[in-house]
Amino acid sequence: MRQRYSWKQRRRLADPIEEHATFDDTETNVAIAGHPLHAMMVAFPIALAFLTFAADGMYWFTADAFWPRVALWASGTAFMIGMAAGVTGTIELLMTPGIRIRSASWTHFILAVMLLSILGLNWGFRLPDPEAAVLPFGAMISALGAMLTGITGWHGGKLVFDYRIGTKPD
Ligand code: HEM
Repeated sequence: MRQRYSWKQRRRLADPIEEHATFDDTETNVAIAGHPLHAMMVAFPIALAFLTFAADGMYWFTADAFWPRVALWASGTAFMIGMAAGVTGTIELLMTPGIRIRSASWTHFILAVMLLSILGLNWGFRLPDPEAAVLPFGAMISALGAMLTGITGWHGGKLVFDYRIGTKPD
């Protein structure tokens, strides 16, 4: 059965973070004509991290030296644009009080920093010899990168769709 609380009990149970005056101040500050820059940029590292993993898989099946070159460029570009997206996300996080005050925003930040270090490792590991790097460790790093990209991207979507972070009120 659902627990019923009196008004006094509910006041005692109130979350001080939710009660904070800036809690609903989540409107984006890093945007072009109201469109958050971070949301526009993250599509690139997401797609490129999965492309790197797919290219590694293609090399495994075909042994064609074309695929390690694809993976090298895809992983490097994923890292570069991911870092740029991370900068816009971090400015948004620090500048917007209603984003800064929520623990969910910081969870996304921690996930994203782990992801960016894996994207950087994946690129750096391939630079000396892109073909030799693929099997097995390059492909394993790509798999980890794709998994972390899925988790970080899903969590970023949760910030927007569940908590309306970075959106514009009517
Ligand atoms: C390094 C630090 C990062 C910070 C501080 C950060 C912060 C944020 C914030 C504040 C939002 C809410 C929307 C906005 O205000 O723009 C967001 C959304 C999002 N983030 Fe990040 N982010 C970071 C990196 C990343 C990375 C590397 C990815 C790539 C996987 C990512 C994927 C997403 C996605 C998919 C959304 C939802 C966008 C939408 O549907 O509109 N974030 N992030």
